[in-house]
Amino acid sequence: MKFPKNFLWGGATAANQIEGAYLEDGKGLSTADMMTLGSRKQKRVISETIDEDKYYYPTHNAIDFYHHYEEDIRLFAEMGFNVYRMSIAWSRIFPNGDNAEPNQKGLAFYDKVIDLCLSYGIKPLITLSHFETPMGLKKYGFWTSKKTIDFFVKYATTVLEHFKGRVNYWLTFNEINVMSTMPWNAGGISLDADQKTKDIAAYNQLIASAKVVKIAHEIDDNNKIGAMYCGHFSYANSASPDDVQGNNNFQDKMIYYIDVQSRGYYPNYKLKELERLNINLPKQTGDDEILKAGTVDFISFSYYMTHVCGSKTKGIFKGLNGLETGYENPYLEKSDWGWEIDPKGLRIALNFLYDRYQKPVMVVENGLGAEDNLIKKQGHYTVEDDYRIDYLRKHLLEIEKAINIDGVPVMGYTAWGPIDLVAASTGQMTKRYGFIYVDMDNFGRGTGNRYKKKSFNWYKNVILSNGANL
Ligand code: BG6
Repeated sequence: MKFPKNFLWGGATAANQIEGAYLEDGKGLSTADMMTLGSRKQKRVISETIDEDKYYYPTHNAIDFYHHYEEDIRLFAEMGFNVYRMSIAWSRIFPNGDNAEPNQKGLAFYDKVIDLCLSYGIKPLITLSHFETPMGLKKYGFWTSKKTIDFFVKYATTVLEHFKGRVNYWLTFNEINVMSTMPWNAGGISLDADQKTKDIAAYNQLIASAKVVKIAHEIDDNNKIGAMYCGHFSYANSASPDDVQGNNNFQDKMIYYIDVQSRGYYPNYKLKELERLNINLPKQTGDDEILKAGTVDFISFSYYMTHVCGSKTKGIFKGLNGLETGYENPYLEKSDWGWEIDPKGLRIALNFLYDRYQKPVMVVENGLGAEDNLIKKQGHYTVEDDYRIDYLRKHLLEIEKAINIDGVPVMGYTAWGPIDLVAASTGQMTKRYGFIYVDMDNFGRGTGNRYKKKSFNWYKNVILSNGANL
């Protein structure tokens, strides 16, 4: 069992899913703050205004990392993390998105978090936009507007300069392809938006991303900026050429974003689709050069499950984010939330991405969302989460094969939600991913105490042995 010497081991979170303190120290509202608690069966409501009498908004308190970051990062360090993927909440730095000056208190908070990480030898990997566009940009139409590109570039430039020399790993947009599936999360676009609106918003994000990649390289040539793909990997439903074509169409729909970020131009299949649908992208002079000059250094992605796709695309089976393209896979088991568990698919996914782009790849999210049972053992609270250990171990074994059998340059692995946090899809706390249990229920009730699960020591050992003791 061999992982490369400088393999990055750690965990990944998003600001809105952990920080809470949603209006503290000058933070403005973000799109995430408007989303109510949902469940497996009930969709989260996106409310126009905050109505606390009617709804519970999980991000407002989250796990209160804002006041617990010292304890939480100490626990990450105890597990031996050498990387921590986190996001900066844009609305802490520019509360309305379009402010003239950055909010110093927002920068001061991330100074503390980042400096603490560095003091433990943990390299921060920062996502600039993880499902939280400032609500102040609503008046412009969020990402449908060219102005939002400028505001984002200003925000990104501010933090790139501010953290210069302290942070070298960056991602522009988390799961940029969720503009196709969860446009509100991706950029404040209505869930009912038509394809044209989504294609326009995606175009603006792709331009913004390319501009920021170029600026990041200019600010510090040690900076490495990645794309971040929501892992929609899929198998054809059968050997029927129609199913294979249907599956290809699905994959193209999802991966075109990364084609643009990695190659610097729109792929022909996407251009032809836009032509067929009569969609004109809001292209300005110089855009082609911007895309070309802003290609990413590495490809990162989230991996939770795989799909099965084919010639039929409607009414078959709802997969990730409610996508109606999937067939059920009879060979795979599902999580309690219906996500099909497919460790072997991770090796295939790593190969797919590396073959396609020939750039280093990184798994920046992977994990099992499950209900945990807190017990007291030898005087300590814990969770015996063997199911989580089993899930993670099987996935890491496949990464190892991709590295050593297939020769894929995998930079690192950040498990999703090393500490329990608010689920993005449902807003629940009870969909837990952590190595660290947070005593809090779906409504934010509880002591907020942190307890080590069984997986905590398991992961610590994995890192300590550089993957030898899986
Ligand atoms: C990814 C997101 O889609 O999946 C995370 O980048 C999210 O923000 C994760 O939390 C897991 O999904 P969920 O709905 O279980 O939180």
